[in-house]
Amino acid sequence: MKIGPQHSYKFLVRPVVVVSTISKNGISNAAPFSFNSPISFSPPIFGFSCNPGHDTWRNIKENSEFVINVVGEDFGPLMGILEKDFPYEVSEIEKAGLTTQKSTKIRPPRIKEAYAWLECRMIDHRELGDHVWIAGEVLEAEVKDEFFDDVIDLEKCRPLSHISGKFFGINPVRVEYERA
Ligand SMILES: Cc1cc2nc3c(=O)[nH]c(=O)nc-3n(C[C@H](O)[C@H](O)[C@H](O)COP(=O)(O)O)c2cc1C
Repeated sequence: MKIGPQHSYKFLVRPVVVVSTISKNGISNAAPFSFNSPISFSPPIFGFSCNPGHDTWRNIKENSEFVINVVGEDFGPLMGILEKDFPYEVSEIEKAGLTTQKSTKIRPPRIKEAYAWLECRMIDHRELGDHVWIAGEVLEAEVKDEFFDDVIDLEKCRPLSHISGKFFGINPVRVEYERA
């Protein structure tokens, strides 16, 4: 079935991350993003694609710092509130009943209820189509001990993925294949 190139993202199941940032007045902001990916091992670089009208971009333009909060299916029911367009400097973290936790290397807070965090500083950005691709060096990465066993334990952390609109993916299973 041909569905049109502009709908091709609907074939691709993408991890949901919640990006937290901070304004110059110290008010935190959070929003879900699914157009996101690691870009480089060394230095470790992580990128995501942001509509230039978002408060997330406004804050990153000011201070370059952001936290990638990696979230599980428990965040699914919170997507509606986290993606709501509250006025600038209203914290979605508070509105969603979530808890902030100090980051180690940057000012924007982590969201405590996430299962892993990447603390990033923007090193590059580029307008691509109707979004800005934001690339950040990963300065600190941490995962909750109980969810990590050599690599992430999918059955414990139960990651949340996005397909499109109200459609999400849950319940992936970790398997191993021999590689040459
Ligand atoms: C699951 C999910 C994934 C999303 N992915 C993106 C994305 O990759 N890029 C983007 O610009 N907006 C994305 N959005 C929309 C933003 O989260 C939403 O517009 C939010 O209000 C932006 O908040 P801000 O203005 O506080 O930055 C997504 C929303 C949801 C619920």
